[in-house]
Amino acid sequence: MSELSVDHLLGIKYLKPEDIQLIFETADHFKEVINRPIKKVPSLRDITIANLFFENSTRTRLSFELAEKRLSADVVNFSAASSSVKKGETLIDTVNNILSMKVDMVVMRHPNPGAGVFLSKHVDAKIVNAGDGAHEHPTQALLDSYSIRERLGEVAGKKVVIVGDILHSRVALSNIFALQLQGAEVMVCGPKTLLPKYIQQLGVKVETNLIKALEWCDVANMLRVQNERMEISYFPSTREYTQQFGLTKKIVDSLNKEIVIMHPGPINRGVEITSDVADSEQAIILDQVENGVAVRMAVIYLLASKIKR
Ligand code: CP
Repeated sequence: MSELSVDHLLGIKYLKPEDIQLIFETADHFKEVINRPIKKVPSLRDITIANLFFENSTRTRLSFELAEKRLSADVVNFSAASSSVKKGETLIDTVNNILSMKVDMVVMRHPNPGAGVFLSKHVDAKIVNAGDGAHEHPTQALLDSYSIRERLGEVAGKKVVIVGDILHSRVALSNIFALQLQGAEVMVCGPKTLLPKYIQQLGVKVETNLIKALEWCDVANMLRVQNERMEISYFPSTREYTQQFGLTKKIVDSLNKEIVIMHPGPINRGVEITSDVADSEQAIILDQVENGVAVRMAVIYLLASKIKR
């Protein structure tokens, strides 16, 4: 397979296993490029990309911008907080105004699930979903799987538990789809109130005991509790959440095997994971961030190769 089966990256659920394989093989090449003294290739000198962030972001926004610049694309950045969206402009009008300045690709983070799909039906540009509400965060799942592949050799056959606020997590949903496409087994673990009722229908195991989940897995992906998406209390207190679902050095040391520990960031140190675990050799959290640039270069490069020019 030499090109993606999709014209946009809207969610992992639209991808085939071969798409993921192609993205990873392309990312392997770009990872080598970004470790050279000159970390740039001229591949996308004729492409202009707009990064539209309607929600806060540190890692994803910087990672996309670096990926685009390392491919030599022209880049424009848009932040909703300082834009005319505040004056009542619609999403379509905002994007069409940006596109009339000859933009070829839009990377968008938006609080509404499905915003990327909506945009792809109304504007003539390649769309990359950088997180749409509690729905999908496809490039995060791709860089997570890429990092597992790097640490453990392959994703197929591995047991991965996703721990925490599954209910509000786009990272969880995209990871479930991505891991299953690659032949991994997936478990979710968290308080019952933060596990969606339908979750078993996705073919995942469900566990509410953190120790049992960790004893089962090869990889634990620890998620942040997304207080900003909660209108009610889903557990009695942060202290109680941490007592039941926080990953500590004592717990990690009590396991009879070494597991790989992941976190998509931002971390709430001392809540879902303690600092000594987050900064340990078993944690690949900063590898995930590094790999994010190579994986996003691969996604952008492969989508750009489908632009007629
Ligand atoms: N992992 C992630 O999406 O982080 P940001 O919200 O900082 O982009």
